[in-house]
Amino acid sequence: MLWFNKIEDHASALAPLASAARSVECAVEFRHVTRRFPARHGNAQMTAVQDVSVAIRKGEVASLIGPSGCGKSTLLNMGAGLYMPTEGEVFVGGRRVTGPSHDVAFMLQKDLLMPWRTIAENVELGIQIRGVPRGERRAKSAILLERCHLKGFESHYPHQLSGGMRQRAALARTLAVEPDVLLMDEPFSALDAQTKMVLQQDLAQMLATEAKTALLITHDLAEAVALSDRVFVMSERPGTIIEEILIDLPMRDNPLERRKLSAMNGYIARLMDLLKVGREDHLG
Ligand SMILES: Nc1ncnc2c1ncn2[C@@H]1O[C@H](COP(=O)(O)OP(=O)(O)OP(=O)(O)O)[C@@H](O)[C@H]1O
Ligand SMILES: [Mg+2]
Repeated sequence: MLWFNKIEDHASALAPLASAARSVECAVEFRHVTRRFPARHGNAQMTAVQDVSVAIRKGEVASLIGPSGCGKSTLLNMGAGLYMPTEGEVFVGGRRVTGPSHDVAFMLQKDLLMPWRTIAENVELGIQIRGVPRGERRAKSAILLERCHLKGFESHYPHQLSGGMRQRAALARTLAVEPDVLLMDEPFSALDAQTKMVLQQDLAQMLATEAKTALLITHDLAEAVALSDRVFVMSERPGTIIEEILIDLPMRDNPLERRKLSAMNGYIARLMDLLKVGREDHLG
């Protein structure tokens, strides 16, 4: 059943796996990564991602943008160790990725909360799998739920919460495993504009306070500029990196304020041009 497969995928992402050590320079590094999938018909292969090299520094927040189907999720899945590259290598925390790792947390557009577990129990899922005792788990989920503005909802079930609140709970669950690296695949795309901005603010503050490294996929160009130190732009499939833009703006920990800077518009316009937004050949 798809639901269980998804949950198992998430649970397995928390399981430790062997990985080969390498010097620690970057938190996440894709080195000449290509990923092909079998084409729908015949023996042909389809190239989703083509020769991508990206290095994200420790403590950096980077965004990945590009047209639909260009290979963004494929790339992130390789960072999480859920897909292996056909060619090239991926490193997280200086270790070659050979499977899901404790150092990486993966957050998706769908919150994937378990409907039969309370919000606190959902937040504790990853640390429960790791064998953290109940009292310690509860203390940790309480702190995280307070930080994610969900104090008082510990005993609620997911269906009793709004979409934004569920996504906050998913964020608390992601943070509970204390990952060094957060890989987020359109985590806020299902939310309304205001809720999204509040959650972006919370996320940005947490990332800055805890000096976490994050790679965020988004179709929201303002979100990419408001949250990131750097934005990587991908081409249409086969996806390659066509541009890397340094966001030289203050207040990465305060995207609500950063959004008000007039310089934001220049970055967004540049990204629109790169993605050919509004042009006939635009696919995204
Ligand atoms: N497991 C898979 N098996 C076969 N093909 C796949 C698989 N995963 C992705 N693909 C293909 O790889 C290409 C890139 O898909 P991917 O999901 O990475 O795109 P994306 O950039 O994340 O798109 P979107 O913005 O719509 O989420 C698509 O053509 C997709 O059909
Ligand atoms: Mg995707």
